[in-house]
Amino acid sequence: MPSYVITGASRGLGWEFLLQVSSDPNNTVIGLVRNKLETDKKVSEELPERSNIHILQADITDYAALQNAAAETARIIGGGLDYLIANAGAVASFDAYDPIGVLGQQPDVLEAELMHMLKVNVVSNIHLFNLFVPLIQQGHVKKVIAISSGQGSLEIIPRLKIKVASLYAISKAGLNTAVAKFSAQYAEEGILFMSICPGMVDTGRYVGATPEQIPGLKEMVKTFEEYAPHWKGPSTTESAVKDVLSVIHKSSVANGDAGTFVSHFGNQQWL
Ligand SMILES: NC(=O)c1ccc[n+]([C@@H]2O[C@H](COP(=O)([O-])OP(=O)(O)OC[C@H]3O[C@@H](n4cnc5c(N)ncnc54)[C@H](OP(=O)(O)O)[C@@H]3O)[C@@H](O)[C@H]2O)c1
Repeated sequence: MPSYVITGASRGLGWEFLLQVSSDPNNTVIGLVRNKLETDKKVSEELPERSNIHILQADITDYAALQNAAAETARIIGGGLDYLIANAGAVASFDAYDPIGVLGQQPDVLEAELMHMLKVNVVSNIHLFNLFVPLIQQGHVKKVIAISSGQGSLEIIPRLKIKVASLYAISKAGLNTAVAKFSAQYAEEGILFMSICPGMVDTGRYVGATPEQIPGLKEMVKTFEEYAPHWKGPSTTESAVKDVLSVIHKSSVANGDAGTFVSHFGNQQWL
């Protein structure tokens, strides 16, 4: 009976992970969300037959809520946890369309937004990993996956000259480093820590972009098309999650994947 914990399971990629993983009735799937009432309602309306889904309340920035979620997870699965998928993430609109020098014209906002990104995407995931490692240690599969972004790749930023999404990229690079450090500590006991980018996925991030914001976005998309001429634009959550799950299932400490940061193809091709 494989068991999964997925954070940010309310919508977007997290909901799709919940949907795909719970389609196998042998899997026990625990979704961590900020609004349990709303997600319980969505599950009962859209997935009424899935008694293998459990929804727990936890804002990942709330350490006590994560502690409760870990205790509740232990009670539900009654043993070790096999997979932890750290999917919840903060994505800002403040940095989505302008380069970092323009963001700097509002220093207070820049600082507040960056601290928020670091709190959600880095610090909270470090707490999440520390609180769930004891359950992973008792599991059979022992895989901890952070859903990261190619935006945080030091190979890709200079190569594609991506000017936008600076604060988000900085936080994802921090997350990748945290994952590598956890891996350095735990790989020798067989726990796979890994960061995976799902590709560019349509989860509504750019809905409502103003005409002034569009050029920054278009410039990034143009560099993506030059980098990957086969690329057809943002993928669906369905295909991105299928790809990421395939990478998760193929990867292992024994294969040399511990602590790595890869794309949804399982390599350094990001689109
Ligand atoms: N979409 C892409 O193109 C793309 C590309 C690369 C990487 N990613 C990464 O993939 C992950 C999912 O992205 P997405 O596009 O599905 O994002 P999304 O649609 O914006 O969903 C974000 C999810 O994270 C949850 N969340 C945010 N802050 C939280 C907090 N403090 N505590 C608990 N949950 C929190 C949200 O919960 P609420 O419903 O409560 O707000 C929501 O479930 C993120 O880590 C993102 O950085 C996405």
